[in-house]
Amino acid sequence: MSHLLTTEDLSLTDFQKFTELASFFENHQKDSETTSGILRGKTILQLFLEDSTRTKISFELAAKRLGANVLHFSISQSSLNKGESLKDTILTLNQYHPDTWIIRAPRSGTCHLLTQWTKSPIVSAGDGQYQHPTQGLLDCWTLLNHLPSIKGKKIVLLGDILHSRVARSQIPLLNKLGAKITLCGPYTLLPKSAAEWEVHVEPVLEKAVAGADAIFCFRLQKERMTSALIPSQQEFHRIWGLTKKKHHDLCPQAWILHPGPVNWGVELGFDMEDHPKSLILEQVRRGLYMRMAVLARVLGKDPLV
Ligand code: ASP
Ligand code: CP
Repeated sequence: MSHLLTTEDLSLTDFQKFTELASFFENHQKDSETTSGILRGKTILQLFLEDSTRTKISFELAAKRLGANVLHFSISQSSLNKGESLKDTILTLNQYHPDTWIIRAPRSGTCHLLTQWTKSPIVSAGDGQYQHPTQGLLDCWTLLNHLPSIKGKKIVLLGDILHSRVARSQIPLLNKLGAKITLCGPYTLLPKSAAEWEVHVEPVLEKAVAGADAIFCFRLQKERMTSALIPSQQEFHRIWGLTKKKHHDLCPQAWILHPGPVNWGVELGFDMEDHPKSLILEQVRRGLYMRMAVLARVLGKDPLV
């Protein structure tokens, strides 16, 4: 495969290949002889124009576990700050012949734009509010380890969906897996285009989460808000925050997922920390294996093929 910019053009077979390979890497995590030569001699360039903790670290560890060299470009220490354009930056870095680029950008469409200036495959690590494909892949894989089939299951996406690239990456995959998707949040944080997404929209939390099998929670992504879209953070928490009591009363069987970072006391109550149904740290852990799978496949080095 070439670039990985969106989950929209992935087939169910693509998804299965990623999850099979991620499981393979998880099962061989102690077996460096099997994994450490897969990307030997390859150079991976991480270009992060926006902050990240888990995506950046897990991609770096994934690349190193597969034996690749990793180069870092971070905006704060770069010549972008001296007025160099993004295009000149990419043309400059091309001279070091990276085999793959991992790119995170605050503005939607940056990853597509960069495909014009480099021949190597680009993997999106989060592109404005457009897509975060590896997160969508790892989230669905994590859930499948707890709900062996997602077909017909009630999956709720709760919170700031409007600004969420993660939701936009999960929805195409969840739809292909046959989930019944409900979006819930304040009207101002539910995208108008949701009507085209094959989802049910229910702004009342009590109705949306009743009987849910899993709930993906999203933080208020203030860095992408251009105006005040909710009355206050306290009101958001009171009405749309998921607490232990709401979970217990409305959907005690529901698995709780969140891409992180969590703002405790806002989208999730403090009493949801350490909740037995929470898969949040498992998502982080599985992210490593999914990103190993993505790098191996993008570079044409899938050991299962
Ligand atoms: N970390 C995820 C992202 O970069 C989710 C978030 O920041 O809320 O999209
Ligand atoms: N989930 C996620 O993308 O986290 P970071 O922003 O910390 O990378």
